[in-house]
Amino acid sequence: MPGLSRPKYRPAVPADAESIAALHADSWRRHYRGAYSDAFLDRDVTADRRTVWSDRLKELNAGCCTILAEDGDVLVGFAHTFFENNPTWGALLDNLHVASGLKRQGIGSRLLALTAQAVIDRPPPTGLYLWVLEQNVDAQAFYRARGGRCVERDLVPAPGGVQSRLQGSPAGLRYAWPDPGVLLGK
Ligand SMILES: CC(C)(COP(=O)(O)OP(=O)(O)OC[C@H]1O[C@@H](n2cnc3c(N)ncnc32)[C@H](O)[C@@H]1OP(=O)(O)O)[C@@H](O)C(=O)NCCC(=O)NCCS
Repeated sequence: MPGLSRPKYRPAVPADAESIAALHADSWRRHYRGAYSDAFLDRDVTADRRTVWSDRLKELNAGCCTILAEDGDVLVGFAHTFFENNPTWGALLDNLHVASGLKRQGIGSRLLALTAQAVIDRPPPTGLYLWVLEQNVDAQAFYRARGGRCVERDLVPAPGGVQSRLQGSPAGLRYAWPDPGVLLGK
């Protein structure tokens, strides 16, 4: 991928479903192998993500937000959050992915900061949390660097509820920010 100019950030619209699905599938193939099954990652993941993203974006939903990072007209990252998802931990950052080759350039931090801002802008005040695969130690280092705290370990649910999409019984870790304000300005 060519060198990055300064990315621009904006909310997703329905026409973005295809490019988000492609980046999501690519990132899962690169980082979720060993937790998700090879059969799922090598065959069905793109179609699955296409369905999920066209459903998510087909109409405005005040209960969630999707923030995109773009370099020109190329999608280089995205974050998707469900507000007020958990009575204890607050909003769920369900997906955060940066294009391969463009990591460690601050895009993930900016997406996390914009997500925190969106949570703060939407009363009532809540925390922010996410689940990360136990095997995904790079992402965990990122969340710790951004002030997240690991508060729980549990088994990973199968994507779309289809058990054969898992490889064995992978575990995930819950990372939480009780005050998302600590993420602002990053
Ligand atoms: C995890 C991810 C979103 C982080 O986004 P990013 O744009 O690469 O992260 P940033 O550049 O904002 O990193 C900020 C800081 O976090 C820390 N950090 C980020 N990645 C790290 C890594 N692999 N190892 C150690 N520290 C890391 C560093 O302190 C970094 O600052 P520095 O580069 O100045 O040292 C991105 O790497 C990614 O998309 N990974 C693949 C998909 C994925 O795992 N998503 C998370 C699913 S739960």
